[in-house]
Amino acid sequence: MKILITAGPTREFIDPIRFISNRSTGKMGFAIADAARQRGHGVTLIAGPVTLPTPTGVTRIDVVSARDMLAAVTEHLPRHDVLIMSAAVADWRPAQTATAKLKKEAMSATLQLEPNPDILKTIAPLKGSRLFVGFAAETGDPRAEAQRKLQAKGLDLIVANDVTQPGAGFAVDTNRVQFLTATQCTALPLMSKHDVGLALITTLENLYTSQNP
Ligand code: CTP
Repeated sequence: MKILITAGPTREFIDPIRFISNRSTGKMGFAIADAARQRGHGVTLIAGPVTLPTPTGVTRIDVVSARDMLAAVTEHLPRHDVLIMSAAVADWRPAQTATAKLKKEAMSATLQLEPNPDILKTIAPLKGSRLFVGFAAETGDPRAEAQRKLQAKGLDLIVANDVTQPGAGFAVDTNRVQFLTATQCTALPLMSKHDVGLALITTLENLYTSQNP
């Protein structure tokens, strides 16, 4: 399979110094990319600003903002069979980005925001027979929200986790996830992010084979 993976956070700049972002480090997406490559798949990795080395044999494209990521996904999707959106895309961006540093006296206490595009929803018309995978990182039992996002975003599978569980949050090398499809929910034990990646790739290989006999 040819697999397109997004990973890491996006940054939405207020001025050249300050930005809105989130705690994603990209470890889960990079581990999936490494696992997919190890299994012999062609992998393109679209990465937000992270400090991780590129996995061997993976083509990497660096982006900064949600709109950059949308442009890169739109450009590269046609040459791929599977899209895995593990990136933590910032939902909002400043309505204006200043070109020079804002002095605090010039800033108001309120930051005007506008919504970023939802990448999965925007590219849904390009899906065709491709497999689309999303992520749902929640605080608390993620199943209900994951099912809602699976349907709302037209996904084949969603990887859900509760980031408050020990070993399942940001910047760690382990995760405790569930794979949800429209008909199945599989809870995996605490395992390395690399092993989560391998398990996800096995599940996608089976789904792909069942849809492309
Ligand atoms: N996602 C996306 N575009 C966005 C935001 C999220 O494509 N602008 C993708 C993520 O990469 C992930 C999935 O949608 O695969 C769910 O992301 P999440 O942030 O949990 O969902 P939201 O729709 O932003 O919902 P909320 O933040 O309200 O939980």
